[in-house]
Amino acid sequence: LNFDGRTAFVTGGANGIGLGLTRALLARGAKVAIADIREDAIEAALRTLDNQHVIGIPLDVASRGGFADAAEEAERALGPVSLLFNNAGINLFQTIDESSYDDWDWVMGVNLHGVINGVMTFAPRIKATGLGGYIVNTASMASFLCGGAPGIYNTTKFAVRGMSESLRYSLAPHNIGVSVLCPGLVKSHIYASDEVRPATLSDNAKPVDSTAVARLAQIHEFGMEPDVIAARTLDAMQENRFHIFPHPEFEDELRTVFDEILADFRPYPADAGHDQRVGFEKMR
Ligand code: NAI
Repeated sequence: LNFDGRTAFVTGGANGIGLGLTRALLARGAKVAIADIREDAIEAALRTLDNQHVIGIPLDVASRGGFADAAEEAERALGPVSLLFNNAGINLFQTIDESSYDDWDWVMGVNLHGVINGVMTFAPRIKATGLGGYIVNTASMASFLCGGAPGIYNTTKFAVRGMSESLRYSLAPHNIGVSVLCPGLVKSHIYASDEVRPATLSDNAKPVDSTAVARLAQIHEFGMEPDVIAARTLDAMQENRFHIFPHPEFEDELRTVFDEILADFRPYPADAGHDQRVGFEKMR
């Protein structure tokens, strides 16, 4: 995969991982449209990047119409998009039993429907160019690990991982790669997600606990630098690796999870005529 001269669309590109990806893509010769809900952060990012090959587009990824308009704008300015990074995401640091329908609608709307909207908007466009391309969806280690993590967030990230794997099979014949990015802790602004919660989904929100937010801000300071994650992501794309695990320290924990899953199997006798493997192999 050659990045040089291609056009990338990066959601949540004004901060954190998305901004790291933008820097890395520009450095490898790509043009980039940053799409983000925070207009002030877009302005600040464009100022620091100071590069003629990047533009900013205000977008709420939860909006289907907004996504279609943003795609038009990006392609008008920078040419056909062939690299899509569905990266925008938020976190609500609370458990499922503490959550309201508004909480579900907000987090599912951004973290899952945002990715769906990106795929629905751009996959047909990339296919139509016939030039191939690549889609990276940002999930998280929370797409595998649930212990202590916020439940709605887990739900969205598991879904993004599953959707990405399925998409990989369907887009491979069109020369469009798909990977899922699964970072651990990142030095980012995700602790401040409440700032971009829409008023329409705030009626049943728990009051923001500013002490907890300040603590989360401190914790995220220890996270991995977005530039490191971005470099590992682009390298993985060049090798067409599906899972992108920038944090090597999770390998043992993941092995434990898979061992626990496998330990739940029982040596039931094979059921003649009902070997389910046949069906799944056909689907691949
Ligand atoms: P961040 O908060 O620094 O950046 C996310 C960007 O997304 C922000 O600029 C924000 O304005 C934007 N955004 C939020 N809602 C949006 C919406 N509705 N439409 C468009 N843009 C929106 O956070 P970070 O950490 O860089 O997040 C990027 C992705 O990485 C997210 O999907 C997150 O779930 C994931 N992630 C983050 C981890 C962390 O420790 N921070 C760990 C694992 C995954």
